[in-house]
Amino acid sequence: MKKVVLAYSGGLDTSVCVPILRERYGYDYIITVVVDVGQPESDIDSAVARAQMISDKHITIDAKEEFVEEYVFPLIKANGSYEGYVMGTAIARPLIAKKIVEVADKEGAQALAHGCTGKGNDQLRFEAVFRSTCYDVVAPVRELELTREWEIDYAAKKDIPITVSTKKPWSVDENLWSRSIEGGLLEEPSYAVPEEIYTWTVSPLKAPDEPETVEIEFDHGVPVGVNAKRFGSLSLVEHLNVVGGQHGVGRTDMIEDRVLGLKARENYEHPAATILLTAHADLEKLVLTRAELQFKKMVDEAFSELAYMGLMDEPLYLDLNAFIDKTQERVTGTVSLRLYKGSAVPIARSSSYALYSKELASFDSTMLNQKDAEGFAMYHGFQARLYKKVMS
Ligand code: ARG
Repeated sequence: MKKVVLAYSGGLDTSVCVPILRERYGYDYIITVVVDVGQPESDIDSAVARAQMISDKHITIDAKEEFVEEYVFPLIKANGSYEGYVMGTAIARPLIAKKIVEVADKEGAQALAHGCTGKGNDQLRFEAVFRSTCYDVVAPVRELELTREWEIDYAAKKDIPITVSTKKPWSVDENLWSRSIEGGLLEEPSYAVPEEIYTWTVSPLKAPDEPETVEIEFDHGVPVGVNAKRFGSLSLVEHLNVVGGQHGVGRTDMIEDRVLGLKARENYEHPAATILLTAHADLEKLVLTRAELQFKKMVDEAFSELAYMGLMDEPLYLDLNAFIDKTQERVTGTVSLRLYKGSAVPIARSSSYALYSKELASFDSTMLNQKDAEGFAMYHGFQARLYKKVMS
């Protein structure tokens, strides 16, 4: 029996893949897998109901906690951001792919399938994981160059119960770290997006007139508490999505350079990500040296590139994480942010590892002999002076 495991979302692309894998590719046992990384529960429920109608076996895997602890937390430690995007979809794909492979191992399948097109990044992220196994890889939407119109028609013929909204013709990908809204009308860079694309955040224009302060506690670079209350990893992120969303925090409207080189207009919402990344970067400034901060900036950038591309098995990715983890040994303390009409601004921070010294920095301090700076000042800009002399 030819078995294939399909990474299933419940949407049009992955739904039409099921009969196509049977008819065009000759698989006789299709296993659909939904990996729960924090999609809305209603989406998961309808995906499961649909899968049970069309596939031979369906499996749902709750990977929310693993997603936060093994993928989101390393990203926070690395101040992860690709061109300003907090990378929710990007870091979830490798985890989903890993779960698909685990199912294939257990079920004795021959192939792994995804429903990505040939234009985006997701195909690359899935396949970076899939192709490091011995399974065949099948990508029907890309290989058969399926169009949306063809898929809608085909779904109707195959009695796949799917409602495609023509009123809201954009694609949403959601997990607990970010919600991506792209495609359709929104692709046009000069089009100002309608307010209705957002569901996690209120418009900053309509956010409360009263600011709210949140104090985030970090332990070794990882967030562990909010307002002096301890939280589990998953509930902390969920809580901050709600609090930040109420103040319109965490919206991004950007032009993104996809891995293949396409420029794409993207919209995202990510309240918790904005709060945690802002607080974390602020705390690092208090506890790391100038040299560490300068060097880590390059490391963070390299981490972000690899994370965006889904290359988490690249040895460099592990090397960078080893460096980052070493720096996080001192990233313990608290940062307070003020949330107000779309902004999250640090207003206070403290740590027992702070490199700030009141005695030394203070203007009234007598601990430093200011005369000592005289020699330093004399040599500061020395080469520029030599240059000026040569040129005059
Ligand atoms: N542009 C983002 C990324 O590459 C979001 C992709 C969203 N994916 C989707 N199938 N809607 O990570």
